[in-house]
Amino acid sequence: MHDFFNESILQITQDAFLLTGYALPEMTTIWQDVQSVISQAPLCNMQTPGGHYMSVQTASCGELGWVSDRKGYRYSPIHPLTGQAWPTMPDSLRQLAQSAAGKAGFADFNPDSCLINQYMVGARMGLHQDKDEHDFTQPIVSVSLGLPATFLFGGTRRNDKTIKIPLHHGDVVVWGGASRLSYHGVSSIKSGDNALLGMRRINLTFRKAG
Ligand code: SIN
Ligand code: FE2
Repeated sequence: MHDFFNESILQITQDAFLLTGYALPEMTTIWQDVQSVISQAPLCNMQTPGGHYMSVQTASCGELGWVSDRKGYRYSPIHPLTGQAWPTMPDSLRQLAQSAAGKAGFADFNPDSCLINQYMVGARMGLHQDKDEHDFTQPIVSVSLGLPATFLFGGTRRNDKTIKIPLHHGDVVVWGGASRLSYHGVSSIKSGDNALLGMRRINLTFRKAG
């Protein structure tokens, strides 16, 4: 099944891997489940502590969701607009994240948070570290859906050189261990039309936050 989808595993740097096409075999279910989550927990524009609005729209599922406002970045058990608990993480998503982590050498990944970022054409994500979590022994699993993107992946210092990794619909990136605090970001999304998602990209980021 997986061979049919032309899957490969490529090492980006120490403890960081690109699993091309890894989400494709289960994509129909994954996309249905993501749509169900964002119908209950609407995507919204988060404000940064500096007062700017991010160019992506954000929602979460799982016990904790990443949120941002003038008070800072943090994890919260409730959606900031609806005041409701985040939807449960669908089994399809949890299983995808756990199996991708295992494939990259991180056994026992136990995510309690899946961040859903929607990028319309022109949206981007500046270089940052994922460091609002408690346990840096747990990796990050990042799944790309829809329009392609250029992922920038650097080292653990902001000024370290970054490499550019093309990400396509169904690709998964896993990083942890020596790379857990690597700086990363996404270049501005170019216009295009994906057969399943249309003119947008969605990224799912799985983490053990609490
Ligand atoms: C992120 O680092 O928060 C997003 C990564 C991506 O969209 O691929
Ligand atoms: Fe990130």
